[in-house]
Amino acid sequence: MVSGPVRSRLRKTQGLAMEQKRWKTGSVEGFESYWRTIEPRLRKRYSEGETLGYHEYITYLGNTLVEEYIQQDGPGLSVELGCGRADTSLFLAKRGWQPALLDISQTALELAKSNFSEEKASCVLTRADLLSAPFREHSFHLVMSFGVLEHFEDPVRPLREMVRILKPGGTLCNSVVYTNRVNFQTVVDWLYHIPGTIVKHGALRRDPAKARQMVALWRGQTFFENNLCMEEYVTAMKRLGLIEIQVIPCATIPALSLTRPLEVCYIQGLKAFCAIKRRVTGRHPLKALFGGRRAWYLFGQKPAVG
Ligand SMILES: C[S@@+](CC[C@H](N)C(=O)[O-])C[C@H]1O[C@@H](n2cnc3c(N)ncnc32)[C@H](O)[C@@H]1O
Repeated sequence: MVSGPVRSRLRKTQGLAMEQKRWKTGSVEGFESYWRTIEPRLRKRYSEGETLGYHEYITYLGNTLVEEYIQQDGPGLSVELGCGRADTSLFLAKRGWQPALLDISQTALELAKSNFSEEKASCVLTRADLLSAPFREHSFHLVMSFGVLEHFEDPVRPLREMVRILKPGGTLCNSVVYTNRVNFQTVVDWLYHIPGTIVKHGALRRDPAKARQMVALWRGQTFFENNLCMEEYVTAMKRLGLIEIQVIPCATIPALSLTRPLEVCYIQGLKAFCAIKRRVTGRHPLKALFGGRRAWYLFGQKPAVG
């Protein structure tokens, strides 16, 4: 299914057009414009941990958390829904998994395709609405989404589709970021990023349009985000028959707009801190010590048949 170079299946189905109408206004356009205008350094975050940028490091930590959880499952067929640049799938492809990637945004898929090509990894790309994913039931050993469920008012609908395409005994892995709730990162955004952005783009560079765009991005206004709590996701997963549900609240490691030398120092400090935390607590460095607050990883299993 997935051998050979990157293969695309960018199709517009009738279902795609129908589902789009039911979305909150602006969602699809919001994602397209997000991926089109994203800064070059954010176009690819996949890294084996050696790169010292904030985004690469956080992505690396997230990828190793997923890897730790799925270590019992052999490499098999995986799918990442709402894949964006598909960082985790690329990481898993390097470890023998055969990834399929799905996104509603053409621009996101082009980004994912170029990231896979650059690493000489293979995948199958599909443009579709994940609410009607064009895959047969029981297709994948691992179904994943990162930063996607929070864009739905009702998480049962996307989760139902994920469970449908998951093989019995397979693993479901989602991460949910909650920018609509007060947490350390949202406070940092309000106190540091938003005034900083206004000063940088609005006052110093005299580009108020850019300042408005950046502030909207920080506030997550370009696309719909729900305000659900973790228990609501867990209830939805239980309703769909998933078992062995695990919720992992992730520590906040604030994103700061630093100059390159300062960012290098910041990441070196974080790396040292994470190594000590691992040694002392025995926990993955991304796991929050006191309950959380930046994102949750939600894992579950589909019961094996018989
Ligand atoms: C916040 S981005 C996260 C991207 C990537 N998973 C990451 O962690 O960087 C959400 C992604 O989900 C995609 N998306 C949102 N709703 C979707 C839907 N109904 N079907 C397919 N993709 C969708 C968007 O196009 C976007 O690429």
